[in-house]
Amino acid sequence: MFTKNALLYVCHMRFLNHIIWRVQRRALKIGRWIFKNIHPAFNGDWFLARRMDALIREQGIQTAVETGTYLGQTTRWLARRIPSVHTIEIQEKFATKARQSFRKFSNIQLHIDNSPNALRELIPKITSPVLFFLDAHWYDYWPILDEIQEIRKSGIRKCIIVIHDFFVPHSDFGFDSYLGQPLDLAYVTPALDEAFGKQQWKYWYNTRATGWNRGVIFIEPLPLENQGEEKAAHKE
Ligand SMILES: C[S@@+](CC[C@H](N)C(=O)[O-])C[C@H]1O[C@@H](n2cnc3c(N)ncnc32)[C@H](O)[C@@H]1O
Repeated sequence: MFTKNALLYVCHMRFLNHIIWRVQRRALKIGRWIFKNIHPAFNGDWFLARRMDALIREQGIQTAVETGTYLGQTTRWLARRIPSVHTIEIQEKFATKARQSFRKFSNIQLHIDNSPNALRELIPKITSPVLFFLDAHWYDYWPILDEIQEIRKSGIRKCIIVIHDFFVPHSDFGFDSYLGQPLDLAYVTPALDEAFGKQQWKYWYNTRATGWNRGVIFIEPLPLENQGEEKAAHKE
């Protein structure tokens, strides 16, 4: 009798363990699927995704330019909302992976280049209003100031510039720093003043973040009194 009960007990436990193991595996699979498909853009920051969604609609954004493609998660998110998306990646290995995931998107153009070079080539050909999502970094050369300079040279004003990994005062959001220089307002202000004029641009920060919990700055040039000053090279 004792042996029979012990055997039954073992069988039950093995069956229970098997069920638990299967549930765990399924949960893991679902988790991975959610991470890959639901909110992978913007490092999983769905507060930022929501804010960007609103901006795109409010501003009637026609073109997005992303610097730093990496695996293309944010690119694909942008391409679902914006008629034309350009993304720039310096590393061939990331670009190759990203390209595979862009097969279903006819509105994405991938440029394999150093971001300021690619911006110089493509900005004169794009339609505004433009959303610039500046997110190229990780290596010794930090292209952010040169990227702003290329936007300045183009004369474009109908745009929103979003810089990821930015220092947000009075927050615990993560931000970039290179050789002791934080990516903060003081660092980009001279370039923005040169691009759009002193006090001719406004900015605001993200106030909530999730995912990798990174800081973000949004920059919008104020409209010029004489809109004719915007370079004719841009199709409106
Ligand atoms: C933080 S990841 C970009 C993440 C991507 N924007 C996203 O939201 O999923 C930074 C990327 O910038 C690329 N990068 C770094 N320097 C660059 C440069 N000068 N020009 C173009 N891409 C650059 C890196 O190779 C890397 O893939």
